[in-house]
Amino acid sequence: MQILDGKLVSAAIKAELAEQVAQLKAEGKKTPHLAAILVGNNGASETYVASKVKSCAEIGFNSTLLRFDEHISEKHLLDHITSLNENADIDGILVQLPLPKHINEELVINNIDPSKDVDGFHPMNVGKMVSGLPTFIPATPYGIMLMLEHYNIETKGKHAVVIGRSHIVGTPMSILLSRNSNPGNCTVTLTHSQTKNLKELCLQADIIVAAIGKPGFVTADMVKEGAVIIDVGINRIADETKKSGFRLVGDVKFDEVAPKSSYITPVPGGVGLMTIAALLKNTYHAAIGQKG
Ligand code: GUN
Repeated sequence: MQILDGKLVSAAIKAELAEQVAQLKAEGKKTPHLAAILVGNNGASETYVASKVKSCAEIGFNSTLLRFDEHISEKHLLDHITSLNENADIDGILVQLPLPKHINEELVINNIDPSKDVDGFHPMNVGKMVSGLPTFIPATPYGIMLMLEHYNIETKGKHAVVIGRSHIVGTPMSILLSRNSNPGNCTVTLTHSQTKNLKELCLQADIIVAAIGKPGFVTADMVKEGAVIIDVGINRIADETKKSGFRLVGDVKFDEVAPKSSYITPVPGGVGLMTIAALLKNTYHAAIGQKG
């Protein structure tokens, strides 16, 4: 069993981006600039956005964090997005999800300029991705593809079972893995809450991507010997021994699944860090006017 080390791979990607940014600066070109919008006080969202902003600084990107009260009106939020769209210094815009219930997420995403949509959530970019055209790929599935590529994991002809059909992870993941590319060329089964024979399907999987947000959902009895396990879950579990009052666990019961796997991502230290690295890559591409 080998651990897929998100810390190591994301550090390599960030080092490469830092060099590319230094090069842009040396040529007198524009420094990539990411704008992040955070609405409300969701603890997990605050942590994610803080990591994204910190990572920008580490590699020499500019970043702007716009924080709004959870009661901000939809109109006010849309006005801020319009102004970021029109601001030539901003290359990438990300609105951290979820948004408060009174705000229509779809409307907000649709209002981001597709050429600055570094999350790849705008329907135009989703359409391009599905069509196999160059575009911004949503950061988590993109990060997972970069991880598979880094470790040279054979995916061709393999059966990948993706658990969870979210627009952010499961759905784009299933599309990328089934593409005629490397990594890719998998036979993909996209499973969800209405799937009847999940355990049976998982037992046939060479690759499992768990993206359901349920702590310890994937257990050893669901996993074939030698499978590749990608754990997208970042679940907070109460833990009084921690200063924060919680610890992070994945969607996979790591201790029992790891010994059966060929490769496995840990939580923390796996996919989460790759998501940030992929977002930074998208932002760099936005800044140089190139998508993917
Ligand atoms: N919430 C959970 N994952 C993501 C993500 O990748 N991007 C944004 N903007 N919000 C999220």
